[in-house]
Amino acid sequence: MAESFEILIKGGTVVNQAGELAADIGISDGQIRAIGEIDASRAGETIDASGLYVLPGVIDTQVHFREPGMEHKEDLETGSRAAVLGGVTAVFEMPNTSPPTTTAEALAAKVAAGTNRMHCDFAFFVGATHENATHLDELERLPGAAGVKIFAGSSTGDLLVEDDETLTQVFSTIRRRCSIHSELESRLRDRLSLRRVGDPTSHYEWRDVTAALQSTERLLRLARTTGARIHILHVSTGDEMELLSYNKDVATVEVTPQHLTFAAPEDYERLGTRVQQNPPIRNRAHQERIWWGLDQGVVDILGSDHAPHTLEEKGATYPATPSGMPGVQTLVPIMLDHVNAGRLSLGRFVDLTSAAAQRLFGIVRKGRIAVGYDADFTIVDMRAQRVIEDDWIASKAGWTPFAGRKVQGWPIGTVIRGRRAMWEGELGQAAGQPVRFGEGYPQGAQG
Ligand code: DOR
Repeated sequence: MAESFEILIKGGTVVNQAGELAADIGISDGQIRAIGEIDASRAGETIDASGLYVLPGVIDTQVHFREPGMEHKEDLETGSRAAVLGGVTAVFEMPNTSPPTTTAEALAAKVAAGTNRMHCDFAFFVGATHENATHLDELERLPGAAGVKIFAGSSTGDLLVEDDETLTQVFSTIRRRCSIHSELESRLRDRLSLRRVGDPTSHYEWRDVTAALQSTERLLRLARTTGARIHILHVSTGDEMELLSYNKDVATVEVTPQHLTFAAPEDYERLGTRVQQNPPIRNRAHQERIWWGLDQGVVDILGSDHAPHTLEEKGATYPATPSGMPGVQTLVPIMLDHVNAGRLSLGRFVDLTSAAAQRLFGIVRKGRIAVGYDADFTIVDMRAQRVIEDDWIASKAGWTPFAGRKVQGWPIGTVIRGRRAMWEGELGQAAGQPVRFGEGYPQGAQG
């Protein structure tokens, strides 16, 4: 007897582990129940995806949503609204809030604040500190925890672990993969005088290639001696990319759309402090070597490093300006434009934004279009041409460094556990839930 479904996604081109195929998707109870040719009469509701590509839901594993403490820049509701408008179905949020996410209480408060208020599904990183280093193995497995994040170089906020002893303690305590901002703090401190007032191009001279490379070398060494698995966030230098290609047994690699798209000095001259971020945007030669890492498979995953600051804050005089730029809403269109330009395949984009997140972080039931998985989809029109403008940006920051950029490839729908979180720019009801992890605990009993 033919099974019936609550929802049917019909007529699209599905991109998943099987390749690209014309297929319908039958959904019940928020999960994928069938993939193939399915008659509309078997479903309660049909979503017409003709002419569109149905991709596994895009998971952005690096965003800063600023709640609690900096809600004038962003909060969990606005950040996640930006996410679903940009086709993102789940986010992992960073711990440099105020207070930071460094305790079980702070984590539980974020999970409570996000549940049914965020528009997408979510998890939160726990920030490593001297104080919590010995019990991070408990914190990293709590419901809603994406794992542990270390700021080995300081950026926005106070979170910093820079000494070998604490890093070794963290690496020996945790069991899950450790995500790390890799810049060498001592070198950044020594070079502070290289910053030129009013000249953001001195940002990448101050925070130079060597600061990033020496930090990553050290992290790889400590990971090897402790047996830790590490994840180097937003890799910005070709030198690290080459080094990481020899260390894939211990390290995974993230890159961002902005490091793949912007270059020094031209984009600093055009956009000033709007492209100031840590680690910095570097020259075209480094950008090409980041693309080499992506082409050759050294890069595992794409993250936006959505780091909103207001235009007023960005309008101060460098170096009084904060580092970071909004990005969760533009990750999909910017990268689809690169797909259309032939820089990567759609299949590679899918792996970098969905299956990779499952592989690296051990997500339960998300990251592929497969029967038994959550019905999370990023539905895109690969032909649509749009110009990205500030007035499209839902982040409280209200701007994007990509303003004025013409792109081909656009998110039309964001479906999360079978619900339309966004369709043609219209939002559904916010129903965000914590992402579950196989390495969480108690095993399998997280909801
Ligand atoms: O530029 C950055 N901004 N890099 C980071 O690592 C942190 C982020 C922020 O929170 O503003």
